[in-house]
Amino acid sequence: MLGVSALVLAVAGARAQDVEAGRDLYETTCANCHGERGDRAALGQSRPLKTLAASDIRTYLKAKQGMAEPQRTQDRIKAALTDEEMEAVAAYAAQFGRQ
Ligand code: HEC
Repeated sequence: MLGVSALVLAVAGARAQDVEAGRDLYETTCANCHGERGDRAALGQSRPLKTLAASDIRTYLKAKQGMAEPQRTQDRIKAALTDEEMEAVAAYAAQFGRQ
């Protein structure tokens, strides 16, 4: 059990850094459409991000990264993110559902 707790703590530590890094990015890049606390349906279409886990958000963003010529604003924004930015913003947005 001790080993498991140490592992959980290590993962939680890594997440805390991502969460911090993701905050600015989220607030300047995503909040307009998805809401400050991930509580809006973006353009009336998406699920509120607060209902999604970090892994769901990461997977969604990753899929956009592979888009050849994104046309819609929301796709262009997502396709331009780096792996690190996707990781950070997913970690930050996933906090909304826990508060
Ligand atoms: C211009 C408005 C706009 C911006 C800015 C925007 N999105 Fe979105 N997002 C949408 C719309 C509209 C959808 C649903 C339609 C679609 O899939 O494109 C969506 C869908 C999503 C989904 C999937 C939700 C679901 O229902 O499964 C995630 C995750 C997401 N956005 C994350 C982000 C993140 C993170 C950012 C910032 C980097 C961001 N979005 C910026 C408009 C936006």
